[in-house]
Amino acid sequence: MNFYDSERMTDLLKPHGYELDNSAEDADLIVLNTCHIREKAVEKTFSELGRIRNQINLREEKTGKKSIVAVAGCVAQAQGKEIMKRSPWVDIVVGPQSYQTLPDLIAKIDPIKKNKNINIDFPTIPKFDQLENQIFNRGPSAFLTIQEGCDKFCTFCVVPYTRGAEYSRPIKSIVDEAKKLIDSGAKEITLLGQNVNAWSAKSSDKDDWGLGKLINELAKIDNLQSIRYTTSHPLDMDLELLEAHRDIKKLMPYLHLPVQSGSDKILKLMNRKHTSLEYMKVIEKVRYYKPDIAISGDFIIGFPGETDKDHQATIGLIKEIKYSQAYSFKYSIRPGTPAGSFDDHVDENLKKLRLQEVQELLRVQQMQFNKKCINSNLKVLVLRNGKKNGQYLGRTPYNQSIYFNSEHKDLIGSMVTIQVTDAFQNSLTGNVKDNKSI
Ligand code: 5AD
Ligand code: SF4
Repeated sequence: MNFYDSERMTDLLKPHGYELDNSAEDADLIVLNTCHIREKAVEKTFSELGRIRNQINLREEKTGKKSIVAVAGCVAQAQGKEIMKRSPWVDIVVGPQSYQTLPDLIAKIDPIKKNKNINIDFPTIPKFDQLENQIFNRGPSAFLTIQEGCDKFCTFCVVPYTRGAEYSRPIKSIVDEAKKLIDSGAKEITLLGQNVNAWSAKSSDKDDWGLGKLINELAKIDNLQSIRYTTSHPLDMDLELLEAHRDIKKLMPYLHLPVQSGSDKILKLMNRKHTSLEYMKVIEKVRYYKPDIAISGDFIIGFPGETDKDHQATIGLIKEIKYSQAYSFKYSIRPGTPAGSFDDHVDENLKKLRLQEVQELLRVQQMQFNKKCINSNLKVLVLRNGKKNGQYLGRTPYNQSIYFNSEHKDLIGSMVTIQVTDAFQNSLTGNVKDNKSI
């Protein structure tokens, strides 16, 4: 979602004379968009701010020009005042629900006094209604936020406090944005939300729509070739969405469905509101509707109170599900969340060992999944050139990276049928199946 927000900020600033620059060295404005989800992400913010200070000082010495520094995103939301105190070279702090005010905040900066501007409100008019309507080219694959915030309050998670309450964008605003993305050259859209499958809205004839219906509507857009969505909650996988996986060709066979732990005791302490069996039943149902679907997930290792038995339950669940790929993290305390004050925190070394075990198992499963694709023909969206001459990088329906060679000069943005020749840990290789398909 931060990628999406950064793109929207770029769109927003373009009419004010700003162009995106790949390096911050000579930038008039540096926006650091930040993530607060885990401790490591927050540490990165503060080390990056140190690097930015050196860069802007160097620039001022060389050219006499002062850069404006803005910190956006969830660290800004949660620790805005602390950022201003610890990093006095920061001029602007803007939260994830108020970045539409960035041009105003910039305009208010007095270049001599360098006054500070903060906006970390949760405005009553959603930011989407206030964002500039212009969309600039995103390349073949674009993100589109349809839902934000969360009301589920998992005890480890900071999202309900930084992104705020659950909010679903209205249908028309989503469809309009999707059409603009397609007009600007996108072929694939990934619908985003912290709880994307909790998205719901009323249609013009007062029908209640869920994500499945929305995907059905978006699939009608002619040049849109591929639809994805992330991230989902197991309790919100409704029938409409399952049917969409069965019926809508443009909806890719990939589901990111975090479970976090395989132990019912830990799931309860996490306030996940489902058991491991209920999660497995959801996966079983999804596979019934879409047998070849690739399943991905998230795991938190070493949640307070996690014993060896709980850890083994997680290992057991992973073995049962067989993930195509998944993310796993050591538990880290997030300020203000209930789990931070739980007793029984797991020793850091033990967390590390358990994480290694989980990651090794997930690596094996990913390799097995990739190997199973050898010899199959996959419809691949070509995303960009590879590093080697004549090489392209694309994305398979199962969300794998695939490399192939072609003498065709301009395949970026096309859907090409590729026969898979080899499989590696994080990618596949293949050949164009049929030149006529290009
Ligand atoms: N510690 C470790 N991992 C976390 N996540 C969220 N909060 C924490 C935390 N406090 C992970 C979850 C979530 C993913 C986005 O980040 O697995 O699904
Ligand atoms: Fe965080 Fe997801 Fe739980 Fe919401 S459902 S509190 S975003 S982990």
